[in-house]
Amino acid sequence: MPHLNIILHPDPRLKKVSKSILEISDRIERLASDMLETMYKASGVGLAAPQVGVMERLVVMDCSSEGEKNEIILINPQIVWQSEAREAFEEGCLSIPDIREEIIRPQSVRVKFNLLDGTQVEKDFDGLWAICIQHEIDHLDGKLFIDYLGPIKRSVITRKMIKLKKELARKL
Ligand code: NI
Repeated sequence: MPHLNIILHPDPRLKKVSKSILEISDRIERLASDMLETMYKASGVGLAAPQVGVMERLVVMDCSSEGEKNEIILINPQIVWQSEAREAFEEGCLSIPDIREEIIRPQSVRVKFNLLDGTQVEKDFDGLWAICIQHEIDHLDGKLFIDYLGPIKRSVITRKMIKLKKELARKL
């Protein structure tokens, strides 16, 4: 299975709203499995399709503890409920390597989504799973976790990332 390239911030594709998936084709199935493989290889817990340059509402996640495997594929995920209780968590992102910042989000969420076979389900997420699914749905809406930070912090991170991308391009 091919290993997909993860797009790094800053990139206009990471700022766009992705389209709903209207038909779950073989292409979507393949994309989901390639995304899972890419996510595991990068030691990530979640990956959204726009991060690999596909502007469609597809997310893969696996927030289970090390040694366990509990992957989940979400098509057109949508938050239908969120808890009043909020929690701070130090988030990172495969599109913003080596940066971690504390972000406050609802502690639990209920998400409506389609499975690969088309079935629509609603599922409650807590803990790291809840943080992760909110972070990934943000990607589908063109939002990054650093967008929750103040403008100065955000611009420092963006400048660091521009430097990193230049270094990586030089190595190619
Ligand atoms: Ni991310």
